[in-house]
Amino acid sequence: MSEKFAVVLAAGQGTRMKSKLYKVLHPVCGKPMVQHVVDNLAELQMDRIVVIVGHGADKIKQQLGDAIEYAMQEQQRGTAHAVMQADSILSGKPGTTLVVSGDEPLISSGTLAALIQAHTDNKAAATILTRVMDDPTGYGRIIREANGRVARIVEQKDASEQERLVREINTGTYCFDNEKLFAVLKQIDNNNAQGEYYLPDAIEILAKQGERIETSVTDEQTVGVNDRVALAKAEALMRNRILEYHMREGVTVIDPSNTYIETGVTIGRDTVVYPGTIIGAGTTIGEDCIIGPHAQVTNCVIGDGVEIKHSVLMDSRVDNRTTVGPFAYIRPNSHLGEGVKIGDFVEIKNTKLGKGTKVSHLTYLGDAEIGQDVNVGCGTVTVNYDGVHKHKTIVKDHSFIGCNANLVAPVTVGEGAYIAAGSTITENVPDKALAIARERQTNKEDYAAKIIKK
Ligand code: UD1
Ligand code: CA
Repeated sequence: MSEKFAVVLAAGQGTRMKSKLYKVLHPVCGKPMVQHVVDNLAELQMDRIVVIVGHGADKIKQQLGDAIEYAMQEQQRGTAHAVMQADSILSGKPGTTLVVSGDEPLISSGTLAALIQAHTDNKAAATILTRVMDDPTGYGRIIREANGRVARIVEQKDASEQERLVREINTGTYCFDNEKLFAVLKQIDNNNAQGEYYLPDAIEILAKQGERIETSVTDEQTVGVNDRVALAKAEALMRNRILEYHMREGVTVIDPSNTYIETGVTIGRDTVVYPGTIIGAGTTIGEDCIIGPHAQVTNCVIGDGVEIKHSVLMDSRVDNRTTVGPFAYIRPNSHLGEGVKIGDFVEIKNTKLGKGTKVSHLTYLGDAEIGQDVNVGCGTVTVNYDGVHKHKTIVKDHSFIGCNANLVAPVTVGEGAYIAAGSTITENVPDKALAIARERQTNKEDYAAKIIKK
């Protein structure tokens, strides 16, 4: 069995992005472009994956990890020059090499597999993944002989007016015979409009040497992301794919054009997603949930039968049949137990709520551990911060917190205890006790009459 290699081109700065962030690290649907590319390659079980890095090399390595290999391209002198940096790792080895661009995140693993298959079936020296586009502007064009065989690829900037009419484009993705690839790279010059060593020139040289050049034409929508306009196109295409996937898996999406689900999200059957909802990477949602309208849920684990309306949740866990919102804010490291109710204008941070507990209105709970079946009255505040440190509030099962209570942490409210409305609790409350911590009311009789006389 001959080996399968992949070279990922990711050394460019991405000048046209006009960004501090290196181009291939720009996310598409929540995942950096180059990570999409590498994840797709991982599905193909390549023997070796070499990523060519230059600009932002450290950041790219940090993103992709060390399960793959890297080759450094100090100066970006073109795509052929980039592949050449893998010479010491790959040249002379019998096998097939897939070359992919770090800025082509929409080319799926299925399309790459079909490309490799076509290449192998045809026993080609090189196979180009091409596409026929209505508007081919900006891409390299596939120039064929009268007999249909590929002669060469011409870049937009080097193309004649006639050549620019060609609608078949190079997706920047190729399969090569590995030994022939590294041999031909040495023959490429930089006599062109950009003064760069173009990888597409390998095609013309191989064709002239009488080598077999094939194409694999894909109808998958792809975008080479060079600027922010293309980035938005890639985002929209990827978003549609993700939404279609979830709908086919049994999720109702009321309005796909107003719903945003990133990659790496799992949603159970019969969950309904309403418009204006953003579900971020790393989120798992169970069955029979109602998410939205206008919910933003990122990196959360949501159980079955949960309702989330007009609310923001991040890095938290919500158990079965709990309802959140409208207008709640669930901040990181919170855990809402089963059948919990979180109502309007409630903020929860780093707090655990037991089964059946209700926090219905206007409340802040931070750094707290609230037991089961607790009723937290309207306007309750955990006073968790003394200006220097954060402190913990513990409220045990079945207790009742009256409206507008301040629980000054560290403090513990015992099981089945009651807190009178308007209390500022600074000391622990024993189990089953009633704590009242406020001024007694005094009524001044006939006050109105007196004040009018003055
Ligand atoms: C390239 C192809 C073009 C094709 C298009 C598809 C060339 C010369 N042209 O054009 O035919 O239609 O992709 O999207 O190859 N890179 C390096 N080192 C370099 C130069 C580039 O690593 O020295 C990387 C970039 O980071 C990028 C990829 O190679 O990820 C492609 O380079 P880019 O400059 O975007 O090429 P295009 O002009 O888009
Ligand atoms: Ca590009």
